[in-house]
Amino acid sequence: MKISVVGTGYVGLVTGTCFAETGNDVTCVDIDANKVQKLSNGQITIYEPGLEKLFERNLKQGRLHFTTNLEEGIADAQVIFLALPTPPGEDGSADLSYILKVADHLGKIMTDYKVIVDKSTVPVGTAEKVREVIAKNCKTPFDVVSNPEFLREGVAVDDFMKPDRVVIGTDSEEARKIMGELYGPYVRQGNPILYMDEKSAELTKYAANSFLATKITFMNEIAILCEKLGADVDMVRRGMGSDDRIGKRFLFPGIGYGGSCFPKDVQALAKSSQEADYDFRILNAVMDVNEAQKLFLIPKVTAYFNDVKGKHFALWGLAFKPNTDDIREAPALYMIDALTNAGATVSVFDPEAMPNVKSVIGDKVKYAENQYDCLENADALVIATEWSVFRTPDFEKIKSLLKQPAIFDGRNLFEVSRMQELGFHYESVGRTP
Ligand code: UGA
Repeated sequence: MKISVVGTGYVGLVTGTCFAETGNDVTCVDIDANKVQKLSNGQITIYEPGLEKLFERNLKQGRLHFTTNLEEGIADAQVIFLALPTPPGEDGSADLSYILKVADHLGKIMTDYKVIVDKSTVPVGTAEKVREVIAKNCKTPFDVVSNPEFLREGVAVDDFMKPDRVVIGTDSEEARKIMGELYGPYVRQGNPILYMDEKSAELTKYAANSFLATKITFMNEIAILCEKLGADVDMVRRGMGSDDRIGKRFLFPGIGYGGSCFPKDVQALAKSSQEADYDFRILNAVMDVNEAQKLFLIPKVTAYFNDVKGKHFALWGLAFKPNTDDIREAPALYMIDALTNAGATVSVFDPEAMPNVKSVIGDKVKYAENQYDCLENADALVIATEWSVFRTPDFEKIKSLLKQPAIFDGRNLFEVSRMQELGFHYESVGRTP
C-alpha cells in the first residue's frame, strides 16, 4: 500500500520505517529541510535500538522516501498518518495547531479519496476538528481515523512490529477495511485490532498512559510508606504483583516518571476533564506526587552530609529511562538543579544522553568519559537512570574513587544487604537499610 507519514519525529519515523518493513511504500514528509536531507542521505535522526537497521534496509530498497513537499508526499498515498507534535499549551491542554495547519493544507490539495489518520496523542474531539478543517476546502470524499500509538521509547520497534493491540477509531466501513489490511501483518500472533468509535479511541490513549502513570505513582507512595514503617517495597511489590489483577509490570518505585508522554498526557487528560466539567481528582494527586518524587533523593543526600554546599557529586544516568537519549522531564535534570542551587558541583555520565543535556544546560555540570571517570573526587554517587551498564559495576573501583563510599540510588539497582556487606552507605527508594 502507498502511505504517507507527516512528521518525522519519534513516532513518525518509527511508524514510517516499520510500515515500510512489511512492504508498503512510505513517503515521510517534514517541514525541516535539514532533517529531510539527513534522512534521505541515510542518516538517522533519533536514537532507538533496532531502528537504524530497518531504516537503512528500507531506504536502500526504495520503500522509504523523504520530502518537504506535502503535495508531492501525499499525491499517491491511500493513507496519510499525522504524527505531529501536540505540545502542552500554557494551560496544560494539547496544542493542536501543527495538526490543524496540516489538515487545512491537506483539504486544499487532496484530489482523491484518502484516509487521514491521527497518530499523535490528541484530545477527544480532535478527529472531528481535523475532519471539519479538511472539509472546508476539500472536493473529494475522505475519512479521518483515530489510531493512537502505544510505542515505548527504547523498545518502539518491537512494540510496533508486535503490538499488544491496535486501536482504530472510525465509523467508516471503507476506512476500517483499509486500516485492517494495513495492520494485518502486525497482529498475526493473534493480538487484537480493536475497532471502536473515534472518541473512544482518542480517550483510550490518554486513559492508558494516565493509568500507568497512576500505577507508578501509587507504588512511589507505597515506597515512601515502606520507609516510614520499616517495610521493604521489593517484597510488597512482589506480593502485590503476583495477583493477576494487578500484574507484575509497572510497579517499580523510583524517582518519578518522566519522558515526553506521561507528564504531558496526565496533564492534558486532567485539563480535558476540567473542560468537560469534571474534576479528575486522582490525576491531580498523581501530578503533585510525581513532582515531589523527582527530588526524593535530595533530602536523603542533604541529611547524610548535613549540608551539600561545597560537595561534589557523581551522577549516573541522565535520560528519563534507559535505552533512550530523551531527557524530557528527566528526574536527573531536576536533581542537578537542586544540588547546584544548594552550592554543590556535579559530574555526570550517561551512555547516550550527554549531548542532549549539554545542549540544554551547557557547562553547569562536568561531562565524564565513562562511569568511573565520573566518580573522581566525588563525595557520593547518585543514580538516576537504570541503564544496564550500571547494574553490575566494579564496586571496589567505585569505593576507591569516591571520597566516601556513599551511594544514593533512585532506581533500586542493588540489593541492600549486599551493599552493606560491601561497606557502602546505601540509600534507595522504599527499602530500609
Ligand atoms: C509511554 C507508554 O509506556 C507507551 O505505551 C506510550 O505509547 C508512550 O508513553 C507514548 O505515549 O508515546 P515511554 O514514555 O516511552 O512510553 O516510557 P515508559 O517505558 O512507559 O516509562 C515512562 C516512565 O515511567 C519512565 O520515566 C520510567 O522510568 C517510569 N517507570 C516505568 C517507573 O518509574 N516505574 C515503572 O515500574 C515503570
